[in-house]
Amino acid sequence: LFRKLEPAPSYDPDSQLAPLAESMRDQAAETGTGWGGEVVAGADNPAIPAGYTYFGQFVDHDITFDPVSSLQRVNDPDALVDFRSPRFDLDSLYGSGPQDEPFQYDRETDNVKFLIRPNSQGMEDLPRNLQGTAVIGDPRNDENVIVSQLQLVFLKLHNKFVDQLAASGLPADQLFSEAQKQTRWHYQWVVVNDYLRRICGDTIVDARFERELTTDEAEAAGPEDEVADVDTESAITLKHYRPRNNPYMPVEFSVAAFRFGHSQIRVAYHLNEIVQNVPIFLPGDVGPLDDLRGGRELPGSWNIDWARFFVINGSTPQPSRLIDTKLSAGLFTLPNSPAPLALRNLLRGQALSLPSGQAVATALGLPALSGAELGGVLDPTPLWFYILKESELAGGLQLGSVGATIVAEVLMGLLKADPSSFINLEPRWRPTVGDGDLDLAELIVFATA
Ligand code: HEM
Repeated sequence: LFRKLEPAPSYDPDSQLAPLAESMRDQAAETGTGWGGEVVAGADNPAIPAGYTYFGQFVDHDITFDPVSSLQRVNDPDALVDFRSPRFDLDSLYGSGPQDEPFQYDRETDNVKFLIRPNSQGMEDLPRNLQGTAVIGDPRNDENVIVSQLQLVFLKLHNKFVDQLAASGLPADQLFSEAQKQTRWHYQWVVVNDYLRRICGDTIVDARFERELTTDEAEAAGPEDEVADVDTESAITLKHYRPRNNPYMPVEFSVAAFRFGHSQIRVAYHLNEIVQNVPIFLPGDVGPLDDLRGGRELPGSWNIDWARFFVINGSTPQPSRLIDTKLSAGLFTLPNSPAPLALRNLLRGQALSLPSGQAVATALGLPALSGAELGGVLDPTPLWFYILKESELAGGLQLGSVGATIVAEVLMGLLKADPSSFINLEPRWRPTVGDGDLDLAELIVFATA
């Protein structure tokens, strides 16, 4: 976003970044206090149910470049170009499609539907090979059992649209592409109109759905009308992220702002009425029922009751954690990771020469908080930490101004830059699922009914 900004100063990994990362360990979560359904003051986020955390992870995997993904190795230059263009196209679901990756699809439906079969325990799970590795578009969506079951929800959503379209008489040769379009557009809708509004607030999203009046419109309008509220019926207006033909993934987003989601992760989760209080990750080699790591067949009775992750029929889901500088203990001992996640994020920011939080705030035209104002931290402050701290100082229910501006600009910018998004192809399109103001909970209920 800001190529001309100086990189933040290089801090010493051992004496400066490692202690900063360690200071982010959430002690309250580690002791388990407050876990058990009740909201812990200063730790839980009553405004964002826990399911949105993993939807954020799912979105991240759809739009970020993944060097280990099987997709990246596809030897087709066009697929490569597409894959490298960040879009809300659910390539993490579809891979490179039924032609190239038939193993993901159900041959009995002429590869129009995804293949979903009960696992060896008779439960619905992702398709897996004999060693338990998920056969899906992006292996990162089997990183933990919550995101893997969200992946399953979206496989079912596609299949559901196929059934609906077939029942309405759509010719067989159009079923896959139309169901794919419906799945993508409903997903795009909830990204912008539900998820983004929850993490950034309505004001920042609404402002980007407004545009200045044209001269003709201004003449016709009264003097008080300076902007037109165009809802989604016109192009999105952005101030900072302006990709032309080639949308790109700004490092300020992927290496800092959108990693805010790491602070939303709980120390443990209730999956359903029976399986309760299971830690997200425990250190080292653990038994199959000890933590929620993915990469293996779903253990028996671990199927998620989504009413515990989203408000469904008036349910009270477990909350996500506040967006603040505290990270759950399990993220300090990730499976297969030599370094705590907080330190990895700080080191990655430095390796990619990110500008400091203060420099980015100034470039965005926002007030920059000094290290002292941020509570006596490194000044200039690493961007990821800055974004979490500004949110924390504002109460932690949603992103602060720098974080929210970057996230809203980039997510809305990717939608705007995608020629096949609903915003560009049918700006007046509305979801066919739900009552017109679709949210993620309604979409999940539809997909899993
Ligand atoms: C249990 C859940 C999660 C785990 C274990 C996890 C773990 C990781 C790891 C290990 C990385 C690579 C770190 C590196 O640079 O070395 C990463 C990257 C990232 N994570 Fe997470 N994450 C989780 C959830 C989330 C959530 C909820 C979000 C956002 C809402 C998120 C956003 C990101 C982003 C944007 C990246 C950079 C991706 C890229 O540029 O390729 N993650 N995560």
